[in-house]
Amino acid sequence: MGCSFSGLNAFYDAANGSADVWINENRFRIVRQLGEGGFAFVYLVKEVVADASASPGSLAAKKSIDPSHISDDGTYALKKVLIQSQDQLELVREEIRVSSLFNHPNLLPLLDHAIISIKGAPDGPTNHEAYLLFPVHLDGTLLDNTKIMQANKEFFPAITVLQLFKQLCAGLKHMHNFDPPYAHNDVKPGNVLITQRKGQPPLAILMDFGSAQPARKQICSRSEALQLQEWAAEHCSAPYRAPELWDCPSQAYIDERTDVWSLGCTLYAIMYGESPFEYATADEAEGSLQSAIMNAQIKWPTSSISSYPDQFHQFIVWMLQPQPAVRPHINDIFFHVDKLITKFSS
Ligand SMILES: Nc1ncnc2c1ncn2[C@@H]1O[C@H](COP(=O)(O)OP(=O)(O)O)[C@@H](O)[C@H]1O
Ligand SMILES: [Mg+2]
Repeated sequence: MGCSFSGLNAFYDAANGSADVWINENRFRIVRQLGEGGFAFVYLVKEVVADASASPGSLAAKKSIDPSHISDDGTYALKKVLIQSQDQLELVREEIRVSSLFNHPNLLPLLDHAIISIKGAPDGPTNHEAYLLFPVHLDGTLLDNTKIMQANKEFFPAITVLQLFKQLCAGLKHMHNFDPPYAHNDVKPGNVLITQRKGQPPLAILMDFGSAQPARKQICSRSEALQLQEWAAEHCSAPYRAPELWDCPSQAYIDERTDVWSLGCTLYAIMYGESPFEYATADEAEGSLQSAIMNAQIKWPTSSISSYPDQFHQFIVWMLQPQPAVRPHINDIFFHVDKLITKFSS
């Protein structure tokens, strides 16, 4: 996987009017747009194979990634990121580096990438575009799925909640136990892809490593604490952001348990469709979301149609511990979800 800045490595094949995209030596046809982010567009693409005897999907197979990520029809997801500053370029390079680190069935792997320079006016700045190629998962994000279910007044069965959550924990466990430990920093339903499978629970895959970083940081001054808060305000979605990233002490040890907070919020969202603190975003009073999070003021639904076992609620409260030092680690959570699965599958 070569990081190249040559215009030859990713370009629109405009000469023959087909508007195909080349990423290094592979050619892709854009089928349709799948999603949109801050500075990114995500497309469904299909590999164009020149040699009819070559099998589509061979690119993913060649990368020796987990079989759960290989499509057998040569389709992929292509993320195109528009880059307008040196800072954005550094961020995308970091997203590429981190996305290439992990090989796990519940983490979306980067298959290939290219960065190209785009020359505007002769004396204007040179901008860049990055193309990131991923396996495609077409059944939407966990957010899309829960929104549809909410509209139909449906809820995941208790056992499915646990099975989805366990897969997220497995992906995150891989990151937290990496050397050095990595934090994802943006765990939320919108960053989890779902694939429905016959006779099996849906597959859940954590994606979007645009905010991921080595997890452990020693904060030694007021200015370092403020810098961390500013970084978090930009990179960690507010309703899922841990208390220590809203108001960081001048002397603090930050670790991967910031993700455990977001994971607790995500378990609530698998059950009830939104973060347990989302209610405070509707409030006009500034700072109400921050205050709800700092005090772990979880709002439980009152309607009985959606009631899950009380152990599920206790599990969430255990993760949503405002003091990071006493919050559980991912290995404890993984162990506990397994115990609950044994209990509720009988
Ligand atoms: N591999 C994929 N398969 C299917 N849809 C995807 C894939 N990757 C991204 N998407 C869609 O594109 C959206 C934005 O992608 P994401 O990587 O999260 O971008 P951003 O960094 O801008 O948040 C996702 O919410 C999802 O709807
Ligand atoms: Mg995202």
